[in-house]
Amino acid sequence: MSSLLVDNIAELVTNVPGAGEDGPLGIRRGAALLVEEGRVAWIGPGRYAPAADRRIDAEGGAVLPGFVDSHAHLVFAGDRAAEFAARMAGEPYTGGGIRTTVGATRAASDDELRATVQRLRGEAVRQGTTTMEIKSGYGLTVADEARSLRIAAEFTAETTFLGAHVVPAEYAGRADDYVGLVCGPMLTAAAPYARWVDVFCERGAFDADHARAILTVGQAAGLGVRLHANQLGPGPGVRLGVELGAASVDHCTHLSDADVEALATSATPDGSGAATVATLLPGAEFSTRSPYPDARRLLDAGATVALATDCNPGSSYTSSMPFCVALAVREMRMTPAEAVWAATAGGARALRRDDVGVLRPGARADLMILDAPSHLHLAYRPGVPLIRQVLHNGVPQCRL
Ligand code: NIG
Ligand code: FE
Repeated sequence: MSSLLVDNIAELVTNVPGAGEDGPLGIRRGAALLVEEGRVAWIGPGRYAPAADRRIDAEGGAVLPGFVDSHAHLVFAGDRAAEFAARMAGEPYTGGGIRTTVGATRAASDDELRATVQRLRGEAVRQGTTTMEIKSGYGLTVADEARSLRIAAEFTAETTFLGAHVVPAEYAGRADDYVGLVCGPMLTAAAPYARWVDVFCERGAFDADHARAILTVGQAAGLGVRLHANQLGPGPGVRLGVELGAASVDHCTHLSDADVEALATSATPDGSGAATVATLLPGAEFSTRSPYPDARRLLDAGATVALATDCNPGSSYTSSMPFCVALAVREMRMTPAEAVWAATAGGARALRRDDVGVLRPGARADLMILDAPSHLHLAYRPGVPLIRQVLHNGVPQCRL
């Protein structure tokens, strides 16, 4: 059994409350961390570090859990740079461009789709992401949704069936028929490759009745529930998600007091059930020039908040979690500690995972080493490539 010691760590973010300094990041100073068989085997003061077969000198940098990007749409073809340019010239974002990507995705070969996922996941890993959720949703036929998920499953265990992204052109005016297809043959073909089911619950996409029907049959097929909710305007999505016990409701840009209250009280009072996480996607507001979600209001109410990229060719073509952290701090009034927690432990909660987003003995050895002494620098130095090394399951991912 080979072992790897990471030492000379100025600041180790564990996300284990009580493991170090006060606060949710559980910061330890002057620490070392031992990896065995892809897991964290030991954490302690550097001077007590055990001998190991190999060593990585963190050179006084900070070490954090790898980012958990719990919301990404990577299986697609083509791009929509012209649509982005039009938006920056004043056009609104409506989600209508999704159908353009659907056309390009259907026309692409498996290998083209696979290459795009590989490229974007590679970008993400170099920016510290070690767990990434990947959705379907640009196929929208039985065969194209199943192959999107088959390809996604080659890259991650966190795959999400989003057959209900929009009603495709061939079903225009027949949304009920399309929902029947999603709930029937499409779900049957997709479920073997999917862990989650998702719906774009929004005016112009799917209403609450459709969303409830799809999420309920998905749940009955053994999939966990998450949904796109309250992105473009107020609506019933957030409360529907909480009612169905969704792991996460994503976007949360337009919330009523009742939505915030529902999220804040979503964990079962006896503590046996997990909360529905509010996953905020500031890359989407940046790229659609829209008002950002009110993270402060959610945090102050006691909701659990995650940050994710929403990486997709339309509304948020970034794979960068550090960028999202910086946006959340600057534009959404999250503290750097809240944003780092939301991008790591928060993402893990949104995926109902307790083995990632945290550094403690037994957790996956998924971590990043910064070329900076503290997590603060992720927001303090926006746009700077601060991530020197990434370990995924204990395996170094970056060439130094
Ligand atoms: O999460 N909102 C729906 N889906 C994506 C956008 C997809 C697209 O524009 O292609 C999102 O923002
Ligand atoms: Fe999305």
